[in-house]
Amino acid sequence: MLNNIVKKEKLAYGVHLFWIENPIISKKAKPGQFVIFRIHEGGERIPLTISKTKGNMFRVIVKAVGKSTYELCKLKENDYIKDVVGPLGTPSEIKRYGRVLVIGGGVGIAAIAPIVDALINVGNKVDTILAARNKESIILEDEFKDSENLYFATNDGSKGEKLFPNQLMEKLIKEEKYDVVWAIGPALMMKACSEVAKQHNLKIFVSLNAIMVDGTGMCGGCRVRIKDTLKYTCVDGPEFDGRDVDWNSFLTRLSQYKAEEKKALENYLK
Ligand code: FES
Repeated sequence: MLNNIVKKEKLAYGVHLFWIENPIISKKAKPGQFVIFRIHEGGERIPLTISKTKGNMFRVIVKAVGKSTYELCKLKENDYIKDVVGPLGTPSEIKRYGRVLVIGGGVGIAAIAPIVDALINVGNKVDTILAARNKESIILEDEFKDSENLYFATNDGSKGEKLFPNQLMEKLIKEEKYDVVWAIGPALMMKACSEVAKQHNLKIFVSLNAIMVDGTGMCGGCRVRIKDTLKYTCVDGPEFDGRDVDWNSFLTRLSQYKAEEKKALENYLK
């Protein structure tokens, strides 16, 4: 059945995994691409990174942070997603680089899972950092076993190093020569990692979680400034070299809707 939830599983507090049946998306999707969900008529559009495919299904991992993601996380197995558009966006630049460091923070771990697999499949040696606020929030750990080295960073030190991901990145860069870095997670984490990459003259891919409406380059809602040029996250990205991103304008645009989102969530939870 198209767009039905075949499997749902709770991975961490407020974080749910969904396997959705959709043969077109599962066949076409490449690492780095995303889908946009609308769960009911007139509902907000929710962009979600595709975090693996299997047969006729694709996987997304959702963190309940606003009204729409709360509603989505309430759906059960055998329910349907009303509209699913995708795969959207430009795929990750997967090729043989040599030695790669990949960093996933929070639910960003879901986004790096297919990237790490694809990088290893084309012959790269990949070191992976999984980062979260605490050990309970580290998801999908078993899927990174093929990494050359697997590191953990938690804010409270409950698993791995008690460091922020950019601090652990800096430490590893001093010990190992990497050819390229990926960092996907909260915007502030990606910004901090991009600063480290800039200092060390390293290319770094980040995936921008911009606010999206149509997802096809028509509405302009997801525009970001990259090296003084306006780009659309949904078609030109979502991955960009983090050294070129105008982080201040990106963070300002992200925070513009925070107050409205908070109010919508409060009303929903009443
Ligand atoms: Fe509308 Fe990208 S979401 S232009």
